[in-house]
Amino acid sequence: MAKKHIAIYLTGGIALYKAASCVREFVKHGYEVRCVMTENALKFVSKLTFETLSQNPVLTDLFDRNNQNSVAHIELADWTDIALVVPATADIIAKMALGIADDAVSTSLLATAKPKYVVPAMNDKMWDNPATKRNLDLLKQDGVQVLEPEVGFLAEGYQAKGRMPEPKAIYAWITAKSSPKPSLKDKKIIVTAGGTVEEIDPVRFLGNHSTGKMGYALAAYASACGASVTLVHGPTNLHDLPGVEMVSVTSAREMFAAVKARFETADAVIMAAAVADYRPEIKADQKIKKVSGPWQLTLVRNPDILQELGQLKTHQKLVGFAAETQNLFENAKKKLQRKNLDLLAANDVSKKDIGFGSDENEVYLYFKDGKMLPLKKDSKQKIAQEIVDQLALLLKGE
Ligand code: PMT
Repeated sequence: MAKKHIAIYLTGGIALYKAASCVREFVKHGYEVRCVMTENALKFVSKLTFETLSQNPVLTDLFDRNNQNSVAHIELADWTDIALVVPATADIIAKMALGIADDAVSTSLLATAKPKYVVPAMNDKMWDNPATKRNLDLLKQDGVQVLEPEVGFLAEGYQAKGRMPEPKAIYAWITAKSSPKPSLKDKKIIVTAGGTVEEIDPVRFLGNHSTGKMGYALAAYASACGASVTLVHGPTNLHDLPGVEMVSVTSAREMFAAVKARFETADAVIMAAAVADYRPEIKADQKIKKVSGPWQLTLVRNPDILQELGQLKTHQKLVGFAAETQNLFENAKKKLQRKNLDLLAANDVSKKDIGFGSDENEVYLYFKDGKMLPLKKDSKQKIAQEIVDQLALLLKGE
């Protein structure tokens, strides 16, 4: 099969060092990669790095007489199947939005008529500037796909929005956007994400380590497949997903009420949330004062949302997760049966690099008919894609 051609445009930001891994990711997955760099990008990482990783010459100057092609930007644009700008500075975003062509990067991008993907990474103040927002809106109107930066530790030494997502997540985002997707048009899917919080008093609560990343990735992909998605989520630091109905809840009982209210008309529910099994029997109105010696807290059981839905279901497909620290396979099979599920994704949350909080996961999919499909460690976006693809087959009756 012919290799897919990706032109990777590299602009001058500190996140450029991570773009090197991005190039590797595409080469590793069988893409033919050609890179183009701005003059400022060359100040951060050398051309040689990208030539070595892409196994192709890097274009930096359209007037370089050593270029093999006399009209280099047109030749590159014609060769391109996908164009990726990573990291995308506020400057290249502005140039793309306005159609400015004054160097190898902006000129080649202007000449490219193929799908374009932009991964902005910059200081939070530049990101928040209305001009950047306006330019990004213009790009989106032109059909350019934009992967928003993450909140994280910036080069300036503080936490804010502006950090470039990890290369594996960028790869997964592009493949999810560019590869054929199942159509979930006319399907209503409820996804749950994050951990529930059970209050003890006005200042204390019982919680867990779920960040919502897995559930948000599932909701984003299901929505990209055309489904009408409701994301019922516990407290998270993640941004609302465009085009998805966002329902914010705190406790397990609130999550149950929000899911149950939408269940009858739903086609499927994916429960990725880490729901607290117990809550304090009494929530104190005032802050509980310290006592000398031990303090006992009485907990009562919360509803098992998925198990209740398993009993209520008529036509709906139910997808659950099993977060286990031991006997993963045995417990997963039991949960699939006990909760009357169609599909269950089992993850071993005792592993540090997957499960709670990490950008990656590794799951085993258990089906009602006894089939098992292992999904090797990959970004949560990629794992979400595989789970939703399997759900789409179940919804089609396959
Ligand atoms: O949010 P992240 O940081 O990305 O982490 C992802 C994750 C580890 C939370 C996710 O991959 C995951 O495993 N989610 C399920 C967590 C969990 O509660 O697992 P469980 O084995 O305790 O529950 C089994 C299933 O029943 C789950 O689908 C759960 O949503 C559901 N459940 C559990 C308890 C309860 N009272 N009601 C429920 O519906």
